[in-house]
Amino acid sequence: MAVLSLKGGVGKTTVALGIASAALRRGARALVADLDPQGNATATLDPPMTEATLTDVLETPRLAVIRQALAPSGWSDELDVLVSSEDLELLNEPGPDSRRMDNLARALDELTASPPGDPYQLAILDCPPSLGRLTRSALMAADSALLVTEPTMYAVSGAERALEAIEAIRAEHNPRLRPAGVLVNRLRVRSYEHQYRVQELRESFGRLVMPTAIPDRLAIQQAQGACVPIHEWKSPGAQEIALTFNMVLAKILRSSRAGRHRLADEEPEPASTPAEPSQNETTSQFPVLRELAEREIG
Ligand SMILES: Nc1ncnc2c1ncn2[C@@H]1O[C@H](COP(=O)(O)OP(=O)(O)OP(=O)(O)O)[C@@H](O)[C@H]1O
Ligand SMILES: [Mg+2]
Repeated sequence: MAVLSLKGGVGKTTVALGIASAALRRGARALVADLDPQGNATATLDPPMTEATLTDVLETPRLAVIRQALAPSGWSDELDVLVSSEDLELLNEPGPDSRRMDNLARALDELTASPPGDPYQLAILDCPPSLGRLTRSALMAADSALLVTEPTMYAVSGAERALEAIEAIRAEHNPRLRPAGVLVNRLRVRSYEHQYRVQELRESFGRLVMPTAIPDRLAIQQAQGACVPIHEWKSPGAQEIALTFNMVLAKILRSSRAGRHRLADEEPEPASTPAEPSQNETTSQFPVLRELAEREIG
């Protein structure tokens, strides 16, 4: 699952780590691939030094290199990290070599075929804040894409552009790609402005907007600073966030199982049948993605 947004600082890494923490709590073996040259996920997951990084993997997606860029996180041996490095930035720039764009997909296929231990149940791809080549490689490798947004006045237009990118990659390169949904982060429930913006998102994207939003809580920053999973941070705020991420993970796992089931049954692609807008939705944008979400997010 790729975790992405157009804007920086809206909580992609927080969401990727929150879901990883929920997976650990649930006993699901998981992998975080840190595609952001800033390396925030790598820093908080605190793995030991590796001989290689994702930059090497994206240049040479062979199992030997992947193994060198992979390390158990400091959180648990059940959570591995494909580590970032600053020079990933060089691979984000547009260039003539578009062949490399599917190298992440190749690498993850290699890793799925020969995992270092028990198979991963979930791979979370933490993207940098742009729709550049790194995010697009993540979308080419992923089965699902989770869009993170804050409840601000630019949320709708930002989500629109990101959904367009998801739809373009799905249509051109990766027919398996499904929207996991639009997840609202840093919600202040008592803020009228925030409620208004969430309503605006729901009117534009209907059930693509996840029913659970992540509240704004200091505990998130405290746990991240201490390199501790949110499920292990002891405060009422942390508990609330941990429960929220459990719900988000449950939804993601349900929808990915539904996706696999559908693929296994080889039902016809639903892409050509636009969704009927439900009564409280006033627009009908992204009919294909919404149809997929209705079927698979449930
Ligand atoms: N729900 C929240 N409550 C409180 N603080 C939060 C919340 N979500 C994110 N933050 C804080 O906001 C900052 C930015 O979050 P984060 O790094 O997850 O964003 P990002 O989208 O990954 O950023 P970038 O685009 O730079 O990769 C961090 O300091 C993080 O701790
Ligand atoms: Mg980040």
